[in-house]
Amino acid sequence: MLLLDLSPARDAINTIVKDPLVSVVQCDVTDFHALRELVSTRQVTEIVHTAALLSTAIRKDILAGVRVNVMGATNVLEVARQLGVERVVLASSTIVGYPAFGDLKGEFFPEDFPLKSVANRPDSIYAATKVTVEHLGLLYRDLYGVSTVSLRYAAVISAWSGPGTSVPGRVLSMLVAAARTGEAAVISDPFMVWLGSDEFIDARDCAYANVAALDAAAPRHSAAGWQWRGNGRHLRIRDAVRTVSRNLSRGKCIFGRRSSRPAIPRSINGRFTSAQLPGMIPLGSVAQ
Ligand SMILES: NC(=O)c1ccc[n+]([C@@H]2O[C@H](COP(=O)([O-])OP(=O)(O)OC[C@H]3O[C@@H](n4cnc5c(N)ncnc54)[C@H](O)[C@@H]3O)[C@@H](O)[C@H]2O)c1
Repeated sequence: MLLLDLSPARDAINTIVKDPLVSVVQCDVTDFHALRELVSTRQVTEIVHTAALLSTAIRKDILAGVRVNVMGATNVLEVARQLGVERVVLASSTIVGYPAFGDLKGEFFPEDFPLKSVANRPDSIYAATKVTVEHLGLLYRDLYGVSTVSLRYAAVISAWSGPGTSVPGRVLSMLVAAARTGEAAVISDPFMVWLGSDEFIDARDCAYANVAALDAAAPRHSAAGWQWRGNGRHLRIRDAVRTVSRNLSRGKCIFGRRSSRPAIPRSINGRFTSAQLPGMIPLGSVAQ
């Protein structure tokens, strides 16, 4: 098993899995030839593609974001096509559905949800790259027979010690650090605050879902080739603060927001949760 990353956090990775089960290799996913060489010489048969720049990083460098997210994924798909890789699982996000949340009725968010191309357009360049990569995955499947699945992760949280760029992960780390010292956690960046409720997923449940997507004989929802992955519960930012306070803080955890700029709107409105993968019950919770 190979783990490729532009700058692998080897110490943090070693706390989870060690050589020789996984060999950690430095590789830039935007370098097509290096990627092809590795997949070919190491006889890779299946790929889970997660490398990306997330929203905060893309705001700092748009060209790099589009290059890594769109060209990186295209490189993975093209290598898979050329070398006959058996399955590619692409990391997508519930962000592709955020603009349509308010329009839907029912309990679960359908994979093939109606999307108005203008009114429901992606609301960030990050979201646009994720929508694009889902379509590239489907096209590589339909036109070239590459077996692809896109997993739409809810907001991922974990207690991993390595670097992380996800908004909820960073918010929780900030709250936990503040709760441990008894100091106030002040969140001043409006992009770190979500309005309404959102759905979350423990990173370990994400990992299990990826393995299930690799192993599935014929991925469910084969027409769409997409899967939503969340823990089926909604969380407001104040719930995150309360959870941290209840579980960690001897004193109290104070949440402050010093900005007049609007927070990120999330109109998920507590009704919809992801359809679950058959037979998979999420193990992780925010409290953990
Ligand atoms: N974190 C979330 O809440 C969330 C939610 C939905 C979907 N996702 C998706 O899950 C995937 C993983 O997200 P994450 O939270 O682990 O992000 P992360 O930033 O923690 O990890 C991304 C990894 O990609 C690597 N990377 C960046 N550029 C690279 C390049 N050119 N070549 C090789 N590696 C490169 C980084 O070094 C980093 O280790 C992403 O595709 C993301 O869009 C994340």
